[in-house]
Amino acid sequence: MERTLVLIKPDAMQRDLAGAIIARLEKLGLKLVALKMLHPDKALAQRHYAVHRDKPFYNELVDYISSAPIAACVFEGQGAVETIRKAMGATDPAKAEKGTIRGDFGLSIGENSVHGSDSTATAEAEIKLFFSPDELFGY
Ligand code: RTP
Ligand code: MG
Repeated sequence: MERTLVLIKPDAMQRDLAGAIIARLEKLGLKLVALKMLHPDKALAQRHYAVHRDKPFYNELVDYISSAPIAACVFEGQGAVETIRKAMGATDPAKAEKGTIRGDFGLSIGENSVHGSDSTATAEAEIKLFFSPDELFGY
């Protein structure tokens, strides 16, 4: 079954939006199969965002995601990756539609409240970074 990684980013955690965001995602017909709160260190942040290592915003991105605790979730279900990406909205909250998570909660392109895997292959790799197999549940 398809799975995807969601991270509730520091800006959303600091505004007590984790529950609201997870509640929205639970309504999409996907199953929450893993959940934890953690403060990522720089090494984890660098691995998670390795695909962006040559971008001008890479250091800022790594510093941001490792600046405070986040919540990591895995959702499972048919089309999970695409379903979550749609619910998140565009990367830049200013361009994200109302009713999407970033459109409603995002503050800026950096402080955009959530991360969601962008493909099934990326999702598999990202989930392994944040969770061990025994932290993923079937129920
Ligand atoms: P994410 O990985 O966090 O789910 O976001 P995304 O797929 O929508 O966007 P992506 O291209 O993967 O970029 C990762 C994060 O980098 C920040 N970003 N900053 N300053 C900029 O031009 C810029 N572009 C991207 C965003 O915070 C984005 O979520
Ligand atoms: Mg991305």
